[in-house]
Amino acid sequence: MSTANIYATPRVVTDLAECQFYHTMDIPGYGVVQGQWDLRHCVDSYLGHVCFTGKRVLDVGCASGFLSLHMERQGAEVVSYDLSENHPWDIVPFAKTDYRQLIEERKNDIRKLNNSYWLNHRAHQSHARVVYGTVYAMPSQIGPVDISVFGNILLHLRDPFLALYNALRLTRSTVIVTDVLSRRDYYKSLFGLLRRPTQRFMPDFRSGKPDDCFWILTPEAIIQFLGVLGFEETVLTYRGQPFRGGPARSFTVVGRRTAGTPEV
Ligand SMILES: C[S@@+](CC[C@H](N)C(=O)[O-])C[C@H]1O[C@@H](n2cnc3c(N)ncnc32)[C@H](O)[C@@H]1O
Repeated sequence: MSTANIYATPRVVTDLAECQFYHTMDIPGYGVVQGQWDLRHCVDSYLGHVCFTGKRVLDVGCASGFLSLHMERQGAEVVSYDLSENHPWDIVPFAKTDYRQLIEERKNDIRKLNNSYWLNHRAHQSHARVVYGTVYAMPSQIGPVDISVFGNILLHLRDPFLALYNALRLTRSTVIVTDVLSRRDYYKSLFGLLRRPTQRFMPDFRSGKPDDCFWILTPEAIIQFLGVLGFEETVLTYRGQPFRGGPARSFTVVGRRTAGTPEV
């Protein structure tokens, strides 16, 4: 295995104006900063009530770092993983739009998102380490982890199964996947009426929207993906949580490894 340093050098960021916060967070010296998602009161259920003490954890799509910091506080050694401005977001390639331009424009948002992580990291004196890249090229030098976390990222990915495959080949025991459902699917799923493993394509060529989301994945689809990858024992839970001022309906699947071993 190559010993190349895969970890990002921490960035000194002190100006909130240089940041874009995905998570609402209480940051020492800055107070409460508003993000799109406020997980402060539901983080344990969002993460499926998994115990992080003494575990090595890979936080895939760490955004502003709220989950990374939470897991570190619970006693985990955290590797935070995300895009940097040098890695393209999976923008939906609508032929009628200049999607390459959108990829370029998104770089500035990603830089500011990364900045929000570093401001938070420094203010909390976090020891979490960061690796930048896409989910499609996760370096094996990350080494084995006990737990992988996929919080609300799979819906954004062109190839969610490949993303899971890439992280789970590093993962010894547990995977946590959280994703969102429409109101209709949420209630259908809650009452056991959404049994088929379905991956529904979200982009609509008529409206040209959305341009940064690909899939509505049902809990059963996640359970099947995880089972194929050796995580056959799963627990599914549901919750409503605050998102941009309204409730979002989401679910969490925690999978435990029952077959295979990490490849690193
Ligand atoms: C919706 S946010 C979720 C943040 C956090 N995991 C949570 O649950 O609150 C999605 C995150 O995934 C990252 N992301 C999106 N596409 C990615 C890709 N292709 N490779 C790696 N990270 C990606 C984004 O930059 C962002 O930080």
